[in-house]
Amino acid sequence: MMIRALIFDFDGVLMDTGRYHYKSWEILLDKIGLTLEPEDDLVLKGASRIDSLEYLLHKGQLLLSHYQKEALLKEKNRIYLDLIDHLTLQDLLPGVYPLIQAAKKEGYQVAVASGSRNARHILERIGALDLFDIVIDANDVPAAKPDPEIYEHVCQLLHLHPAETVVIEDAEKGVAAGIAAGCYVLGLGDPAYLDKAHMVVSSLAGLGLDDILQGVSRDLIA
Ligand code: G6P
Ligand code: MG
Repeated sequence: MMIRALIFDFDGVLMDTGRYHYKSWEILLDKIGLTLEPEDDLVLKGASRIDSLEYLLHKGQLLLSHYQKEALLKEKNRIYLDLIDHLTLQDLLPGVYPLIQAAKKEGYQVAVASGSRNARHILERIGALDLFDIVIDANDVPAAKPDPEIYEHVCQLLHLHPAETVVIEDAEKGVAAGIAAGCYVLGLGDPAYLDKAHMVVSSLAGLGLDDILQGVSRDLIA
Protein backbone atom coordinates (compact mmCIF):
# COMPACT_ATOMS: atom_id res chain seq x y z
CA MET A 1 0.00 0.00 0.00
CA MET A 2 1.24 3.46 -0.81
CA ILE A 3 1.41 6.37 1.60
CA ARG A 4 -1.03 9.13 0.65
CA ALA A 5 -1.19 11.38 3.69
CA LEU A 6 0.77 12.81 6.61
CA ILE A 7 -1.14 13.31 9.86
CA PHE A 8 0.49 15.68 12.33
CA ASP A 9 -0.08 15.83 16.07
CA PHE A 10 -0.13 19.46 17.26
CA ASP A 11 1.60 19.96 20.64
CA GLY A 12 5.30 19.15 20.35
CA VAL A 13 5.10 18.37 16.61
CA LEU A 14 3.78 21.46 14.86
CA MET A 15 4.65 23.83 17.70
CA ASP A 16 6.76 23.72 20.83
CA THR A 17 3.73 24.22 23.07
CA GLY A 18 4.49 21.33 25.43
CA ARG A 19 6.62 23.59 27.59
CA TYR A 20 3.70 26.03 28.00
CA HIS A 21 1.34 23.21 28.96
CA TYR A 22 3.97 22.19 31.51
CA LYS A 23 4.40 25.72 32.81
CA SER A 24 0.66 26.28 33.14
CA TRP A 25 0.21 23.04 35.11
CA GLU A 26 3.10 24.15 37.32
CA ILE A 27 1.47 27.54 38.02
CA LEU A 28 -1.91 25.90 38.63
CA LEU A 29 -0.56 23.25 40.99
CA ASP A 30 1.31 25.88 42.96
CA LYS A 31 -2.02 27.60 43.64
CA ILE A 32 -3.38 24.42 45.28
CA GLY A 33 -0.20 23.52 47.18
CA LEU A 34 1.06 20.79 44.85
CA THR A 35 4.33 20.53 42.94
CA LEU A 36 4.91 19.44 39.37
CA GLU A 37 7.97 17.28 38.76
CA PRO A 38 9.89 16.97 35.48
CA GLU A 39 9.09 13.25 35.21
CA ASP A 40 5.35 14.09 35.24
CA ASP A 41 5.83 15.49 31.75
CA LEU A 42 6.05 11.99 30.28
CA VAL A 43 2.58 11.24 31.65
CA LEU A 44 1.11 14.63 30.72
CA LYS A 45 2.46 14.66 27.16
CA GLY A 46 -0.34 13.63 24.83
CA ALA A 47 -2.84 13.18 27.64
CA SER A 48 -6.18 15.02 27.58
CA ARG A 49 -6.78 18.02 29.81
CA ILE A 50 -9.01 16.10 32.23
CA ASP A 51 -6.81 12.97 32.29
CA SER A 52 -3.85 15.22 33.12
CA LEU A 53 -5.67 16.85 36.04
CA GLU A 54 -6.95 13.52 37.38
CA TYR A 55 -3.40 12.15 37.31
CA LEU A 56 -1.97 15.18 39.12
CA LEU A 57 -4.70 15.24 41.78
CA HIS A 58 -4.35 11.52 42.36
CA LYS A 59 -0.59 11.85 42.69
CA GLY A 60 -1.00 14.78 45.09
CA GLN A 61 -3.70 12.85 46.99
CA LEU A 62 -6.16 15.68 46.64
CA LEU A 63 -9.87 14.85 46.44
CA LEU A 64 -11.89 17.57 44.73
CA SER A 65 -15.48 17.92 43.58
CA HIS A 66 -16.52 17.93 39.95
CA TYR A 67 -17.05 21.71 40.15
CA GLN A 68 -13.66 22.35 41.70
CA LYS A 69 -12.03 20.31 38.92
CA GLU A 70 -13.96 22.21 36.26
CA ALA A 71 -12.78 25.50 37.75
CA LEU A 72 -9.16 24.31 37.80
CA LEU A 73 -9.32 23.17 34.18
CA LYS A 74 -10.71 26.53 33.16
CA GLU A 75 -7.96 28.30 35.07
CA LYS A 76 -5.27 26.05 33.59
CA ASN A 77 -6.44 26.88 30.10
CA ARG A 78 -6.58 30.60 30.86
CA ILE A 79 -2.95 30.50 32.06
CA TYR A 80 -1.94 28.41 29.03
CA LEU A 81 -3.60 30.73 26.51
CA ASP A 82 -1.89 33.71 28.15
CA LEU A 83 1.50 31.98 27.87
CA ILE A 84 1.11 31.14 24.17
CA ASP A 85 -0.39 34.45 23.13
CA HIS A 86 2.87 35.57 21.47
CA LEU A 87 3.20 32.55 19.17
CA THR A 88 3.01 33.20 15.42
CA LEU A 89 3.40 31.30 12.16
CA GLN A 90 7.18 31.74 12.59
CA ASP A 91 6.97 29.46 15.62
CA LEU A 92 6.08 26.33 13.68
CA LEU A 93 8.83 23.88 14.67
CA PRO A 94 11.85 23.60 12.33
CA GLY A 95 11.19 21.41 9.30
CA VAL A 96 7.39 21.50 9.62
CA TYR A 97 6.64 24.06 6.93
CA PRO A 98 9.00 22.61 4.25
CA LEU A 99 7.68 19.10 4.94
CA ILE A 100 4.07 20.22 4.49
CA GLN A 101 4.97 22.07 1.28
CA ALA A 102 6.86 19.06 -0.11
CA ALA A 103 4.00 16.70 0.77
CA LYS A 104 1.41 18.90 -0.92
CA LYS A 105 3.58 19.33 -3.99
CA GLU A 106 3.82 15.54 -4.30
CA GLY A 107 0.03 15.20 -4.01
CA TYR A 108 -0.13 13.92 -0.44
CA GLN A 109 -2.95 15.01 1.83
CA VAL A 110 -1.92 16.74 5.04
CA ALA A 111 -3.95 16.64 8.26
CA VAL A 112 -3.82 17.47 11.96
CA ALA A 113 -5.10 15.18 14.72
CA SER A 114 -4.69 16.79 18.12
CA GLY A 115 -5.81 15.84 21.61
CA SER A 116 -5.88 19.53 22.50
CA ARG A 117 -9.10 21.52 22.45
CA ASN A 118 -7.01 24.58 21.54
CA ALA A 119 -5.34 23.20 18.42
CA ARG A 120 -7.75 24.38 15.73
CA HIS A 121 -8.13 27.76 17.40
CA ILE A 122 -4.35 28.31 17.61
CA LEU A 123 -3.81 27.25 13.98
CA GLU A 124 -6.54 29.64 12.94
CA ARG A 125 -5.11 32.50 14.99
CA ILE A 126 -1.60 32.15 13.52
CA GLY A 127 -3.00 31.74 9.99
CA ALA A 128 -1.93 28.10 9.54
CA LEU A 129 -5.34 26.48 9.16
CA ASP A 130 -5.22 26.65 5.36
CA LEU A 131 -2.04 24.57 5.26
CA PHE A 132 -4.07 21.47 6.08
CA ASP A 133 -6.76 19.48 4.27
CA ILE A 134 -8.30 18.39 7.56
CA VAL A 135 -7.87 19.57 11.15
CA ILE A 136 -9.41 17.48 13.92
CA ASP A 137 -8.94 18.23 17.61
CA ALA A 138 -10.33 17.10 20.95
CA ASN A 139 -13.52 19.10 20.35
CA ASP A 140 -14.38 16.70 17.52
CA VAL A 141 -13.41 13.37 19.07
CA PRO A 142 -14.13 12.70 22.74
CA ALA A 143 -11.88 9.63 23.21
CA ALA A 144 -8.39 10.71 24.27
CA LYS A 145 -5.12 9.23 23.01
CA PRO A 146 -3.92 6.44 23.43
CA ASP A 147 -7.40 5.55 22.15
CA PRO A 148 -7.03 5.20 18.35
CA GLU A 149 -10.38 6.90 17.61
CA ILE A 150 -8.97 10.29 16.60
CA TYR A 151 -6.65 8.72 14.02
CA GLU A 152 -9.37 6.36 12.77
CA HIS A 153 -11.66 9.37 12.37
CA VAL A 154 -9.11 11.40 10.40
CA CYS A 155 -8.41 8.43 8.10
CA GLN A 156 -12.15 8.12 7.39
CA LEU A 157 -12.34 11.83 6.56
CA LEU A 158 -9.32 11.48 4.28
CA HIS A 159 -10.98 8.42 2.66
CA LEU A 160 -7.80 6.46 3.31
CA HIS A 161 -6.92 3.16 4.90
CA PRO A 162 -4.79 3.84 8.01
CA ALA A 163 -1.90 1.96 6.35
CA GLU A 164 -1.88 4.70 3.70
CA THR A 165 -0.99 7.33 6.29
CA VAL A 166 2.00 8.37 8.40
CA VAL A 167 1.23 9.83 11.81
CA ILE A 168 3.84 12.16 13.32
CA GLU A 169 3.81 12.10 17.12
CA ASP A 170 6.01 13.26 20.00
CA ALA A 171 4.19 11.48 22.84
CA GLU A 172 4.11 7.84 23.86
CA LYS A 173 0.30 7.99 24.11
CA GLY A 174 0.07 9.48 20.62
CA VAL A 175 2.39 6.85 19.13
CA ALA A 176 0.23 4.16 20.78
CA ALA A 177 -2.93 5.75 19.33
CA GLY A 178 -1.47 5.84 15.81
CA ILE A 179 -0.22 2.26 16.01
CA ALA A 180 -3.56 1.00 17.38
CA ALA A 181 -5.35 2.74 14.50
CA GLY A 182 -3.13 0.89 12.01
CA CYS A 183 -1.19 3.94 10.78
CA TYR A 184 2.54 4.13 10.16
CA VAL A 185 4.08 6.23 12.92
CA LEU A 186 7.04 8.57 12.91
CA GLY A 187 8.10 9.34 16.48
CA LEU A 188 9.59 12.73 17.22
CA GLY A 189 11.83 12.79 20.30
CA ASP A 190 13.51 10.24 22.54
CA PRO A 191 13.52 6.67 21.14
CA ALA A 192 13.59 5.38 24.73
CA TYR A 193 9.87 6.03 25.12
CA LEU A 194 8.79 6.17 21.46
CA ASP A 195 9.99 2.65 20.70
CA LYS A 196 6.61 1.51 19.36
CA ALA A 197 6.95 3.94 16.42
CA HIS A 198 8.14 2.63 13.04
CA MET A 199 10.85 5.29 12.97
CA VAL A 200 12.10 7.90 15.46
CA VAL A 201 13.87 11.19 14.73
CA SER A 202 14.94 13.98 17.08
CA SER A 203 13.70 16.76 14.78
CA LEU A 204 11.84 17.26 11.50
CA ALA A 205 14.47 19.79 10.42
CA GLY A 206 16.05 18.70 7.14
CA LEU A 207 13.88 15.59 6.97
CA GLY A 208 12.60 14.89 3.45
CA LEU A 209 9.46 13.10 2.44
CA ASP A 210 11.54 10.24 1.04
CA ASP A 211 13.42 9.85 4.33
CA ILE A 212 10.08 9.38 6.06
CA LEU A 213 8.62 6.99 3.49
CA GLN A 214 11.77 4.88 3.49
CA GLY A 215 12.13 5.07 7.24
CA VAL A 216 8.65 3.94 8.23
CA SER A 217 8.75 0.95 5.93
CA ARG A 218 11.47 -0.16 3.59
CA ASP A 219 9.06 -2.01 1.29
CA LEU A 220 6.61 0.86 0.92
CA ILE A 221 8.30 2.60 -1.97
CA ALA A 222 6.26 1.89 -5.06
C1 G6P B 1 -2.03 17.49 24.07
C2 G6P B 1 -0.84 17.90 24.91
C3 G6P B 1 -1.18 17.81 26.39
C4 G6P B 1 -2.44 18.60 26.68
C5 G6P B 1 -3.59 18.05 25.84
C6 G6P B 1 -4.89 18.79 26.07
O1 G6P B 1 -2.24 16.13 24.18
O2 G6P B 1 0.25 17.07 24.63
O3 G6P B 1 -0.11 18.33 27.13
O4 G6P B 1 -2.79 18.50 28.04
O5 G6P B 1 -3.22 18.17 24.47
O6 G6P B 1 -4.73 20.09 25.63
P1 G6P B 1 -5.73 21.27 25.89
O7 G6P B 1 -5.12 22.38 25.07
O8 G6P B 1 -7.08 20.86 25.39
O9 G6P B 1 -5.73 21.55 27.34
MG1 MG C 1 2.10 15.95 21.10
